[in-house]
Amino acid sequence: MTSRRVRIVEVGPRDGLQSEPGLLPTEVKVRLIERLMTAGLRRIEATSFVSPTAVPQLGDAEAVLAAIDRRAEVEISALVPNTRGLERALAARVDRIAVFTSASETFTGRNIRCTIDESFARFGPVVSGAKAAGIPVRGYVSMAWHCPYEGAIGAEATLAVVRRLDALGCDEIALADTVGLTSPVEVGRLLERVATVVAVERVAVHLHDTSGQALANVEAAVLAGVRVFDGAVGGLGGCPFAPGSPGNVDTADLVATLERLGLDTGIDVVKLAEAADIARPITRRVA
Ligand code: COA
Ligand code: ZN
Repeated sequence: MTSRRVRIVEVGPRDGLQSEPGLLPTEVKVRLIERLMTAGLRRIEATSFVSPTAVPQLGDAEAVLAAIDRRAEVEISALVPNTRGLERALAARVDRIAVFTSASETFTGRNIRCTIDESFARFGPVVSGAKAAGIPVRGYVSMAWHCPYEGAIGAEATLAVVRRLDALGCDEIALADTVGLTSPVEVGRLLERVATVVAVERVAVHLHDTSGQALANVEAAVLAGVRVFDGAVGGLGGCPFAPGSPGNVDTADLVATLERLGLDTGIDVVKLAEAADIARPITRRVA
């Protein structure tokens, strides 16, 4: 094992809240984000600059970013689907943007209403605009392993998207098991292939927990050299465009698993539990 340091990207305020049925007041989101900062989270995906018609839950993106007490040591990122989203994100002074496409044609159509090819045509000016503004870009590959519409996704399809995100200039590539159906063996296999395309230091893993394998998948990714993991406080989450998509892996479980493996997350678990107290009442639990 090379380094003991591991970075958790807290995606609860974005991936978590986007699928909650109700609209959460802006001040609750702000309080949640600030408690997460206090708990030691150093990367927080705070919101999305997407169409408020598509995701009304995050329609207050500007208000959230204007209200949070920014801290120099905390990187605030946001999802951006197009140049309009980039302009909004830059005006709100985000520290990083994330573009998102997927390895599944069907899901891409449902989620961002275009083909995978078209998504790359949209991202070109978005990524170059972010670079010109001096901020890093994450590129998400949703449905990197499985898709609720297409079933198992072949590694070649995922690798093709990884290559294109890399060629576009994405600094970090996040492989997302959006439906939470992958297994440790599949995680290991894909990461082995991905590592031949981009250095593993630039790869993040974003897991949802449907089949109870998320933490085993985290271990498999650690073994493969991954040191950036997404989690959502209180296990918030799911994707409104992916039927059956469950919550993200709970940040607290992620911390426990990573620390047990001898890695250092820098998170204060007591303070994280205080942030989870805010998240818990808003979590939609489907039996
Ligand atoms: N910010 C605010 N509004 C935006 C926007 C942005 N970044 N991009 C588009 N819009 C608005 C347009 O103004 C238009 O509004 P109107 O209906 O009032 O005229 C509407 O959204 C549709 O715009 P259009 O350019 O035709 O896009 P589209 O209908 O092809 O939708 C996306 C494409 C990507 C903008 C939209 O599907 C989206 O925002 N999806 C979000 C998906 C998401 O966040 N998924 C969860 C993450 S996995
Ligand atoms: Zn997700």
